Amino acid sequence: MNDQSPFRTSQLEAVDTAPRNPTTNPTMGELISARFSRRGFLQGSLAVSAIAATISPLALMTAGKAKAAGGSAFNFTEVEAGIDETHHVAEGYDADILLRWGDALFADAPEFNPAAQTADAQSRQFGYNNDYVGYIPFDDSSEHGLLVVNHEYTNPHLMFPGIVEIVEGEITTKPLTKDQVDIELMAHGGTVVEIRKTDGKWAVVKDGALNRRITVNTEMEVTGPAAGHDRLKTNADPTGTKVFGTINNCAGGVTPWGTYIMAEENIHGYFAGELAPDHPEAANYKRLGIPEGSYEWANYYDRFDLSKEPNEPNRFGYVVEVDVMDPSSIPKKRTALGRFKHEGAESIIARDGRVVFYLGDDERFDYVYKFVTAGKFNPDDRTANMDLLNEGTLYVAKFAEDGTLVWMPLVQGEGPLTPENGFASQADVVIATRLAADLLGATKMDRPEDIQPNGVNGKVYVMLTNNTRREAGQEDAANPRAKNAFGHIIEIGETDGDFAATSGTWDVMLKCGDPSVAEVGATFSTATTANGWFGMPDNCAVDAAGRLWVSTDGNNPSDTGRTDGLWAVDTEGDARATSKLFFRVPVGAEMCGPLFTPDDETAFVAVQHPADGGEDWEGFGRVSYYEDLSTRWPDFDDAMPVRPSVVVITKQGGGKIAV
Ligand code: FEO
Ligand code: CA
Ligand code: CA
Repeated sequence: MNDQSPFRTSQLEAVDTAPRNPTTNPTMGELISARFSRRGFLQGSLAVSAIAATISPLALMTAGKAKAAGGSAFNFTEVEAGIDETHHVAEGYDADILLRWGDALFADAPEFNPAAQTADAQSRQFGYNNDYVGYIPFDDSSEHGLLVVNHEYTNPHLMFPGIVEIVEGEITTKPLTKDQVDIELMAHGGTVVEIRKTDGKWAVVKDGALNRRITVNTEMEVTGPAAGHDRLKTNADPTGTKVFGTINNCAGGVTPWGTYIMAEENIHGYFAGELAPDHPEAANYKRLGIPEGSYEWANYYDRFDLSKEPNEPNRFGYVVEVDVMDPSSIPKKRTALGRFKHEGAESIIARDGRVVFYLGDDERFDYVYKFVTAGKFNPDDRTANMDLLNEGTLYVAKFAEDGTLVWMPLVQGEGPLTPENGFASQADVVIATRLAADLLGATKMDRPEDIQPNGVNGKVYVMLTNNTRREAGQEDAANPRAKNAFGHIIEIGETDGDFAATSGTWDVMLKCGDPSVAEVGATFSTATTANGWFGMPDNCAVDAAGRLWVSTDGNNPSDTGRTDGLWAVDTEGDARATSKLFFRVPVGAEMCGPLFTPDDETAFVAVQHPADGGEDWEGFGRVSYYEDLSTRWPDFDDAMPVRPSVVVITKQGGGKIAV
């Protein structure tokens, strides 16, 4: 997301000018001081008892190592924060381009030719704006497996020649042709690609037997409570079970049984047209900002036009599960996990074998969710797990001022989720999840993005990007800053360390922003350098040692004097809330991924929307478009446009990324 870009597709998250949560769920601003006066008590009793209940021998070893290293658990020399046209990684590491937009994935796919791109070529090539990156090993290998990558969205002004004209400072953009829209459809979705490490270097296995592109035309099956419901039926699909494609796949996940999860996030931007004012979906769509119309697809495809297919939006906004071991498998939309602006779906096996998925709804004042499967994970029978996501309980979080939280079940017939309130069945609950959660009084958060369970220390980390629309007086204990420009990170400890628990404790682990500016109120440790702090936490990963890595969306010289990047953040001991910059992106980009192989010797990061932007950032940024790009990363070839790419990071000479 890029607040400074004048182009609509760059602003899909930023254009939330008016918050879409109209509820008056109680805020707790006046209780902040009470909350903070209790911090010592909480850390001394409840929080620590939760840690003690969950800490593993590995975590104790890691904690010991951290202390021996003199504080931080990360031993690399950090990168200098700043901005220029390329990427930078810490000294002693290689950061190589693994996959670029347009790279051929199959032997019969044409090589990328931006001047003659076609939808057919794009459907066999790596898509645009890589976001989530997952790794599914072959035979538990950390050197051979499948990389799964989401392609969240397209930026036509960076992809296509001849779109933008600037006359006397006025920017105009030409309408897209059908051919260009068709390329966009094929550049969305996801990639499944075999990769292998040979002599210390990773490469794509072109034409790997499981290589696959998933696009806006891929047939998918709707499963779970909403499958076949009238609210999902369209002219093209009177069964309400068969959908073509997935859109705006932001973060995601890999399940314990090795399937790939793609989360559908900002679906509102793809729909245009008018819904009749008294249409029964009016309130449901309004709560999601549908239609928003950043994309021009409705000009060529009726299903994206609400006046022609009013139910089509109810078929998007889910998490999608892909069986990557069968390249002809039909991806499943798992409606049991609710319908909202799904950021990601990272999971962990609970003590009793049920599987818990943590879900963020990325919009200002929206909610944190989790889903607990009804069935148990079977480690010996992959097939037995394949429909675990169809049955279970979806919960939404209420963070209390005393540092406790309750996971409230979204179950039809319970509490206010009655037919009188518009919830006649569980289908209604999962189709209009935000409206259901509103009625339960969930806590309005500052843009919940990735939520990462940590199996080593038993905690859960919630990235909250920012929310400058939270006014003074609207603060609450879990969202303690008005005009929260830089975001924060919450650490949850589930009761008894049980990830399936329906209650827990929490703490604001880190308030982000420049710690040298008192009014920002950032809480990085004093060991954090001028390069080490960041704003706008978005994606995150936990490495095999249980350490937290955070990537960001929205840093730029206007706000934080730096680009986005990947930061290593200590969570344990004296070093807690110490942050170090490991990798930074080129001008205009956002940092997605990150991901570590099981042996911690490789990190994958995704550089999204490089060259996007609208301000003159120390000479590196400007209104940037195909003919006048602020960077031509990663090729730096005048014949090539800028290309979003996945970067693979290894340590020179081998070994773990950080010890
Ligand atoms: Fe697509 Fe919430 O970032
Ligand atoms: Ca994100
Ligand atoms: Ca983002």
